[in-house]
Parts: sequence; C-alpha cells; structure tokens
Amino acid sequence: MTFEPVNAAELTKKEAYDLIESSLSGLVEGDDGPFLDQIAIMATMCSLIKTLHKDVFWVGFYRLLVPGVLTIGPYQGTPGCLEISLSRGVCGQAARERRTIIVRDVHEHPDHIACDPRSRSEIVVPVLGRDNELLGVLDMDSTELGAFDETDQLALEYLLDKFMY
Ligand code: SME
Repeated sequence: MTFEPVNAAELTKKEAYDLIESSLSGLVEGDDGPFLDQIAIMATMCSLIKTLHKDVFWVGFYRLLVPGVLTIGPYQGTPGCLEISLSRGVCGQAARERRTIIVRDVHEHPDHIACDPRSRSEIVVPVLGRDNELLGVLDMDSTELGAFDETDQLALEYLLDKFMY
C-alpha cells in the first residue's frame, strides 16, 4: 500500500483519525499478510499521527522494559527524555493509574516534565497488552493550549486497543 499525501491543515480531527486508522490498517495488513512487529507498528503510528494531526508537535511511545522505568520508544519530533521514572511526570501518572491523562496547560500540572519547553498541552494514554499488562504509554504534545480533548482520547484508546498487544 502507498500512502497518498494529504494536506493535514484541511482535515478535521475526526477525519485525521479515520485516515490514521485506515492507513495503519492498510500498511499493517500488507500485501503478503499482516505485519506483526510492534516496534514497526509503533513507528508507523507515530509517523501517521505526526503527518495527519495538525496540532501534534511531538508524538511517541515510552515502553515499560524494566519495572519502574519508562524508556523512550519510536517517536517523531525533537529529542525526548530517554527515561522517565514511573513515579514522575504525566507519563508516569498515566502508567501508574492506567488511565488517559489530558493536560490542558502543562504549566498548571505540578509534575509535568518538559522535554521540550515549547510544549503547552499534552495527552498520555496507557498501552496495555492482551492480558491487560502495562506495556507503556503513548504521549502526544502540542505547542497550543488545550489542543487535546475527548475526541483524541477515544481515538487513541481505540487505535492502541486495535494495534498494540
Ligand atoms: N511531558 C512528559 C514527558 C515526556 S515529553 O513530553 C516527550 C511527562 O511529563 O511525563
């Protein structure tokens, strides 16, 4: 499958997520059977989100490779923090509480970690495996205040449920 370039500025958020899902499905399903490598799928999901969601300045996965520490995985944007303790940051909170956290203004969150000072709002979604085990989190940042809402939450939770295991 070939990705057809589109102008992200012309897409609504809902249209962007529909296109992310259909493109990812097409790419993952492949011409020769499904593509199963999780890192490849994470990298492709980040690429599609960064290309199609006009408010996203940084998107990436943090993976729980050892207990208590999130390690950076595939991402798009400026360099992210390489490791985040599970006890720290919005990422750590979403991982500990296993729930999506939307931060309207990162300056108002007492434990926000600024990997890039231009980030103004953020959404972090836990990534769970088939047995409901915590695999990591997906983190998205915007330079705009209040960029993320329930539309992002529902769409990202759906994408992660469908493509991560
Ligand atoms: N802001 C995150 C850290 C990760 S960076 O934004 C890429 C946090 O507070 O956990």
